[in-house]
Formats: sequence, C-alpha cells, structure tokens
Amino acid sequence: MARERVIREPKAIPAVLDPAEGTKKASAAKPARLPVTEGVDSVLVRPPLREDDDSVIKDLRPKRFAEYIGQSTVVDPLGIAVRAAKKRGEPLDHVLFHGPPGLGKTTLAHIIAREMEAHVTHTSGPALERPADVVGLLSNLKKGDVLFIDEIHRLSHAVEEYLYSAMEDFRVDFMTGSGAFAKTISLPLEKFTLVGSTTRAGMLTAPLRERFGLTYHLEFYTDDELTLVVKRSAGILGVKVEAEAAAEIARRSRGTPRIANRLLRRVRDYAEVGGDASGIGIEPDAAVNKDMAAEALRLEGVDELGLDRLDRTYLQTLAVNYQGGPAGVEALAASLNEEQQTLVDVVEPFLLKIGFIVRTPAGRRCTPPGMQHAGEVTHGKSAKGTQQARLV
Ligand code: ADE
Repeated sequence: MARERVIREPKAIPAVLDPAEGTKKASAAKPARLPVTEGVDSVLVRPPLREDDDSVIKDLRPKRFAEYIGQSTVVDPLGIAVRAAKKRGEPLDHVLFHGPPGLGKTTLAHIIAREMEAHVTHTSGPALERPADVVGLLSNLKKGDVLFIDEIHRLSHAVEEYLYSAMEDFRVDFMTGSGAFAKTISLPLEKFTLVGSTTRAGMLTAPLRERFGLTYHLEFYTDDELTLVVKRSAGILGVKVEAEAAAEIARRSRGTPRIANRLLRRVRDYAEVGGDASGIGIEPDAAVNKDMAAEALRLEGVDELGLDRLDRTYLQTLAVNYQGGPAGVEALAASLNEEQQTLVDVVEPFLLKIGFIVRTPAGRRCTPPGMQHAGEVTHGKSAKGTQQARLV
C-alpha cells in the first residue's frame, strides 16, 4: 500500500470554495475586501463543521482537547493558553507545530479553532505562490479567526515577508501601480491567529519562527497511547477489537495515530470478509482478535516492528548497497527512486527514533541493530517466518 506522501504539489484551484454552496465564490461580491486570488489551494471552513457531521468516511480525528489522546506536553500548555485567551476575549497568540507527519498537527489546528469558537481557513505553503494569494486570505479573516498554513517551511520568500507585518502588527503593506504612479497601501487586518505546521522546523527563517508566541514539538506516541487511539477509533467505526488486537495494531503503527487508524481500517476489512475470496467474515458480534490483526497487517506488508516495504527497502539499501553507509540522502533517494523529502520526512524519523540509523555529517549510517534487522529482512526472518519481510 502506498505510503501517504507529505509532498503535494499545489493544485490549480481557481478560488476559495464556498463549502456551503460547493461553488466558486464570486470574488467581486465583496469590494471592501481584496479578492481571494487565483491558485490558492485552500478551503474556507465557515461556518464550523457540525458536531454531528456523519460523513460516509467517518472522521476519526478528535474535535476537542478533551478527546485528544497523548501529546500532553503540547495539549496541556496549549489548553491553558486557549482558555486564557478566551477569558480575555482576545485571539490566541500565533502557534507553530513541528514534528513528523501524522502526529496530529492539523488536528490540533482545527481543535484550536473549535475551542476558540472561531473559523479556520486551511491552506499550505506551496499553495500560496504569490503575495496576492496570502493578502487575499488575510483580508478575509474575521477577528479571532485561525489561518492554518501547513508545510509553512515551503512558503516563498516574497509571501513570507507579507506575513511578518500581518503577524506582528495585523496589517499588510503592498504596492500598487509602478513608476511615478506607485504607491504603498497599508491594509489593516482583523486580529487573527496564524497556526503554522512543519515537518522541518530547521528550514524556517528566524524572523518567521520568532513571530510565533507558542511553539510545540510533537513526539511519536507511546504504544499505550496508540492503543487508546485504536480503541477510540474502533468505537467510532463500530468495529469490535479485543484489547490484545488493539495493542498489536498500536505496536505496529510506528508511533503515529494516522498509521494506527489506517491499519485499523485494513484490519476491519480483513475481519469483515474473512481475509479470502470466500467473503465470510467474522460474526457481526464477534471481536477482532490478535491473530486476525497480525495476519491482516502481515498482508499489508507491515512487519513486527511496524516497518513497511519502503522502510525495509531503505534500510536494506543502506546496509547492503552502501555497506552500512555513510550515504547521502540524495544518493539513497536516487537508489530507491523516491523523493528525497519523503525519505527525510516520512521514512527516516522513525528509523532514527528506534536507533536503526544515525545521521552524521558524512551521511546516513546504519547502526548495528539496523544492520541486524536488514540482515533478517534479506533472509526473510523479520516477520517471524512470514514471507512479507522479504524485499519486494
Ligand atoms: N485519532 C488520531 N489522533 C488521535 C489522538 N491524538 N487522540 C484521539 N484520537 C485520535
């Protein structure tokens, strides 16, 4: 199964969509505000989603801090900041979330908006190609609104410069006309909250980083936390899972709730149709047990440690082709025919966390446990005798 990619090229969506109508908003309809410009990959969520929104694909993400499992070093102080801002009747300070993908950065941005009873506009760094794109969005924000910019490290320099005065002084200055007709217009903005999210905090410029009053790093989840996430999600999906099965899914989810929820859906599929063409699944009232979960995950190509095919291929390439390294990430990306950014953002963080690789100035190196796992992969032992661990 294809790994979720963090890199999305900007889609040419011609204007912000009005979710109520599903139609393009006439940008000329509000002459007092700058038109929302072309090329903005964003959705204006106004009014907020209904609490009871029961879409076909059930949204497993928590909507409130109270429902959020884990990340207590983020959620606890953030909850205090939100409650304090609300008590004062002020917008929340700007917030920056950084950490590997799938740990809940976007979810938290939406929770902030909901807890602040504010609207959220969701966009991304690559979608904001020109200054006019961001000025259009900013001018449409109301007091207390949240502007969420995903992959904020991918903002262009020109767009980023407009954010500085917007974040600090709630105004943007821009030039109109040229030559003798050039003049600067200062556009006041409503006090809003910018929530930025990035997998690469190191790629943010210091002036941008310094303008966030609240900065949080999201960590991988523990197995116990992920077990709770799986149980909660199973409840929402209406699938019964034994405690041991939930723990098995959690253990193989690489510390990442997004992966846990994806694997839970695959385990549910497997249980519903019995894992073969017979189509006979478990009894409607029966619970998924640990063996079923393990078999479903084996079929998904997820091994005992939660590593998937790309993780294993990465590890084996480094261990065998590069004799354990050091190898540059460009070389690894070329060998694997993968995007460098996918390796850095998606594959490497967990391999670093479990100590299978290290980053050195000379390049990536496989550690002794990483070499051992790569050897087991090569000899088909990493999933205890099952075939899936062999390189594909
Ligand atoms: N689903 C995904 N992430 C979650 C979290 N942190 N808490 C509860 N449910 C989740």
